[in-house]
Amino acid sequence: MKIVVLAGGLSPERNVSLSSGTMIAHALRGLGHQAALVDMYFGLEAYTGPVADYFDAPLTDQWKQVDPKAPDLAEIRAARKWQSPSQFGQGVLELCQMADIVFLALHGTCGEDGRVQAAFDLMGIPYTGAGYLGSGLAMDKDLTKRLIAHLGVHTPQWQRVSYTEQEVEDLAAATQVPCVVKPVASGSSIGVSIAHTRQELHGALMEGLRFGGQCVLEQYVAGREIQVAILAGQALPSIEIIPKEGFYDYENKYQPGAAEEVCPAPIPPAWEQRVGQAALTVYHALGLSVYSRADFIVDQEGTPWFLEINTLPGMTPTSLVPQEAAAVGIDYASLCQRIIEESLR
Ligand code: DAL
Ligand code: MG
Repeated sequence: MKIVVLAGGLSPERNVSLSSGTMIAHALRGLGHQAALVDMYFGLEAYTGPVADYFDAPLTDQWKQVDPKAPDLAEIRAARKWQSPSQFGQGVLELCQMADIVFLALHGTCGEDGRVQAAFDLMGIPYTGAGYLGSGLAMDKDLTKRLIAHLGVHTPQWQRVSYTEQEVEDLAAATQVPCVVKPVASGSSIGVSIAHTRQELHGALMEGLRFGGQCVLEQYVAGREIQVAILAGQALPSIEIIPKEGFYDYENKYQPGAAEEVCPAPIPPAWEQRVGQAALTVYHALGLSVYSRADFIVDQEGTPWFLEINTLPGMTPTSLVPQEAAAVGIDYASLCQRIIEESLR
């Protein structure tokens, strides 16, 4: 098959996406596909050959590991005159229209949030993963929680905030700590903090609001961090994450060895059943398809507290969905193949 692996883009998770995309493109080539890896933002501007030949152009290894240095999006953007925060780079659409399917390796804004999916629907371009509506809902942590809160899935108490600096001060003074601050629509824990004091909360809100101007302020629930992947409507064995230090933030997610990941999670079968069921309830409530990964805190009674669901979960060397698939004998390349097949159904 001719496959475009679309990665990069201009979200704070750009580097994560480049890593996912590189891994996926290599795996697909290993299966004999003609897989082209393209950065959604820069497109083919550094490529001089005919577009059709790009499917066989050499792949780079440069991005395999997630570059820990955050991309300077303002600097990248300043080099352009584009009005939109991100748009298709040169040759990207032409390439996608030649492909049998586009494998979306994008994470975060403009890629995981349904916009690219909606554009592709209009153009008749097949792509991997969930459709535009579920993607858009899942990207918004507040809307997701509102949708699932009445379905018997526990989720920590929360409020959506989009405040001025003065309001942040008042809010920080009036809020119970510890609590968690997250940008409402971001990923990879970028801009996320756990605040233990009111002073930390003030800083956490100011930081979180930098990413899109809106946050979810969530009650802190103590427990074990358990994540569950869904593949084709089935929950895979859950995975427990034990960071060596702190919580499962950007560094602990992508620095090899920074967190211990145990799959299947060493939890009683009844807990496993509960967390898998909760993940499936969320997946269906949002109308998701193909694959996803739901993230939970499981408290000491074994109650799963839903945090969020990711519709284009990471596929980097340290990512969790490939580990959960491996636990049921699906290796990385077979997982990519399965995602393609499920998406084309
Ligand atoms: N947002 C990152 C890529 C994840 O959920 O894996
Ligand atoms: Mg996420």
